[in-house]
Order: sequence, then C-alpha cells, then structure tokens
Amino acid sequence: MKHRMWMTVAFASALVAQSTPAAIAADGEAVFKARCTACHGQDGKGKAAVGTPDFTSAKTQAGLTDAAIVETITNGRKDTIMPAWKGKLSELEISSVASYVRSLGPMGGRSGQ
Ligand code: HEC
Repeated sequence: MKHRMWMTVAFASALVAQSTPAAIAADGEAVFKARCTACHGQDGKGKAAVGTPDFTSAKTQAGLTDAAIVETITNGRKDTIMPAWKGKLSELEISSVASYVRSLGPMGGRSGQ
C-alpha cells in the first residue's frame, strides 16, 4: 500500500513537470489569493505594517532560492508570524504557490540560477 502511495506521488509530480508554467502559476495564484494576500498584499508587494517583503522586487527575488521559498512556506519562519503551511497545503499546492511567488519577480518566474 505504501508503495502504491509513492507511485501516486511520483505520477502527480510527473504531471506537474509536464504542465505548462502558466498552468502552475494559475494554480499557485489561486492559493496565494486565498491564503497569503492578508499578509503579503493582493499584488505580493508586501505590507510594511506586517513586515512582509516585496516579492515584485528584484532585490527580494535575488535573495531567495527556489528551495528557500518552498522551505519557508512549508515550515514557516521562526520568530515571525509567517505560518507553516505543512499539513494545510499539499506539497503540490506549496510548489505551485512557490512558483507563483517567483513569477511575481521582474524575471517572471525564471530563477536565474
Ligand atoms: C499571518 C501573516 C502571513 C501569512 C498568512 C503568510 N505570510 Fe509569508 N511571511 C509573513 C512574514 C511576516 C514574513 C517575513 C518573515 C521574516 O521577517 O523573515 C513572511 C515571509 C515569507 C517568505 C520568505 C520571504 C523572504 O524574504 O525570505 C515567503 C516565501 C512567504 N512568506 C510566502 C508566503 C506564502 C506563499 C503564503 C501563503 C501560502 C504566506 N507567506 C502567508 C507573513 C505571512
């Protein structure tokens, strides 16, 4: 049974790998609008009062690796109000919303790394 689960996960990942970046961004956008805008702003530019970064800034994007974005979304940021989304969002939703965060940058989703 465990093996079966793993196969399902592998299959889902393969599907994601095949879908267009636009489709992933669309999904991630829905997650972002539903869960993240309260603190990160409708446009992802951040809110000074909350202390959230401006995801549309090249400087912010340059300081973030794809892995760091996924890590922060999954486990939250210790000693800040950035919540951990593990268990609340699926791995698929986390990777979609991470791609969306990346797509907000001036490079439009290319990590440049
Ligand atoms: C309750 C408010 C809140 C919510 C909701 C929230 N965040 Fe955050 N987030 C923060 C704060 C505050 C920070 C800045 C933490 C710090 O100072 O390091 C942050 C930081 C981040 C970072 C790291 C940025 C960096 O420069 O390292 C990412 C990525 C991120 N959030 C993504 C998300 C995503 C995606 C969601 C929705 C699934 C989300 N956040 C929901 C408050 C929130």
